[in-house]
Amino acid sequence: MNIQALLSEKVSQAMIAVGAPADCEPMVRQSARVQFGDYQANGIMAVAKKLGQQPRQLAERVVQHLDLNGIASKVEIAGPGFINIFLAPEWLAQQAEAALASPRLGVAPVDAQTIVIDYSAPNVAKEMHVGHVRSTIIGDAAARTLEFLGHHVIRANHVGDWGTQFGMLIAYLEKQQREHHEEIALADLEAFYREAKKTYDEDEAFAERARSYVVKLQGGDEYCRTMWKKLVDITMTQNQKVYDRLNVTLTRDDVMGESLYNDMLPGIVADLKAKGLAVESEGATVVFLDEFKNKEGEPMGVIVQKKDGGYLYTTTDIACAKYRYEQLHADRVLYYIDSRQHQHLMQAWTIVRKAGYVPESVPLEHHMFGMMLGKDGRPFKTRSGGTIKLSDLLDEAVERATALVSEKNPEMDADELRKLANIVGIGAVKYADLSKSRTTDYIFDWDNMLAFEGNTAPYMQYAYTRVLSVFRKAGIDENALLEGTIQLNDEREAQLAARLLQFEETITLVARDGTPHVMCAYLYDLAGLFSGFYEHCPILSAEDAAVRQSRLKLALLTARTLKQGLDTLGIETVERM
Ligand code: ARG
Repeated sequence: MNIQALLSEKVSQAMIAVGAPADCEPMVRQSARVQFGDYQANGIMAVAKKLGQQPRQLAERVVQHLDLNGIASKVEIAGPGFINIFLAPEWLAQQAEAALASPRLGVAPVDAQTIVIDYSAPNVAKEMHVGHVRSTIIGDAAARTLEFLGHHVIRANHVGDWGTQFGMLIAYLEKQQREHHEEIALADLEAFYREAKKTYDEDEAFAERARSYVVKLQGGDEYCRTMWKKLVDITMTQNQKVYDRLNVTLTRDDVMGESLYNDMLPGIVADLKAKGLAVESEGATVVFLDEFKNKEGEPMGVIVQKKDGGYLYTTTDIACAKYRYEQLHADRVLYYIDSRQHQHLMQAWTIVRKAGYVPESVPLEHHMFGMMLGKDGRPFKTRSGGTIKLSDLLDEAVERATALVSEKNPEMDADELRKLANIVGIGAVKYADLSKSRTTDYIFDWDNMLAFEGNTAPYMQYAYTRVLSVFRKAGIDENALLEGTIQLNDEREAQLAARLLQFEETITLVARDGTPHVMCAYLYDLAGLFSGFYEHCPILSAEDAAVRQSRLKLALLTARTLKQGLDTLGIETVERM
């Protein structure tokens, strides 16, 4: 049940009935304070102005036409013309029952779209580092969320698997294979890349070979293709281990690297020329865009083909957007890439739109995020100044979580402890990232993310186990059907129920804006409301059997909502901790 959508519909009908235009905005929002009811409609003032009417009088007429029979227990006009809506406890109880009876918590199915999500996108022969973490974690939460709502989600891992560096990498892999035995040589990708670069810079014969391999690879030479493929395979095998550890849903099948678009590039450049968008400039092929200015204030030139015939990252992203629309039939494309690539994407997409490759009706969205910073506010690095490897970071998270969890559960056996520490440690790293508003830089702080207080994974995971413990104590199987009906007599019960029923509008918002932190904030608030309810409304010791059953049902809906919400974020839960 999307209460906000339902009320918006009702208020806008009433507004139209009293003369407002058909596209008027009722602006129904969750009320900021309990005295303003559960929801508030703020759209009257703007319409009154348009109609040249007195806002309060208009509000009164709207309320006369507002049909919230059975839904609201009270409707009030406040301030200059706000409409405060108080939901009826009986109605909330009915909706809560319906949510409990539904495997989807009452969330209505959507008009399914095909949505492509571009995320993670590490580079070949380079280890995934913390810079790729944000894209992987946030992108995966978006994928899970949209999938839960019923969309057809295509995960596109735009791996950096093409470019002139591959001549050097192939030559170095060859050297390694000659000198050592095969795969071991690539155990540390970062070192491999560094060494390859060093050899390239120092050994002229090697550099010569590397350059010839680039040409051969581009020409489709079989040996070079095989070596290239080996590099991609080794990299993605290592990355897959990280994905699995992170409980991220990407698989090898989701790899759609830059090379996938190679065959499209000559055609695109030719087409851009034919359409008069691209021109020759100093030997290169360039699209001049009025939308972007260079330092001299002139239209910016975006190179789509270099003088030597090579294509660029931009050319690939033009082809990639076209492919996602034409071949994957995307209705919408989300890109989770750090904010430094914003200009690049905007340029590529401006060309895409001008060339008519993707119609305006199909949104191309850059969901950008800032950098991960250390506690000192500087880029997050190792003590010696190197980039932190994701696998090392996760090891540390689990190590720290082990200490935390064993302190709380001294008698837990080693096996269970290991499992729990993994779920808490990995969950903490992910949740810390997910819970922040995405666009800002974010400060990585172990103490904050592993705290049992505040909006953290351990707090949320613990809150979930606390709800379940009610059932354990009572010896009730929470999966069995619970007798009785929900009745909301206490204000805290009604508040909890209303919040529980806001799951749908929350997830709808996350899906629309691609912002998982909104779900984190919702779940955190929900857990807090449950605590208050639990303290003031005894469940198992309730004197009246009907009240006890009703409260058990509210607790059950809370548990399911927390679990489902955390699941859309890719955060695992446990039964006890
Ligand atoms: N591989 C790139 C990097 O590591 C990110 C690719 C993002 N996706 C895209 N369609 N450009 O910076």
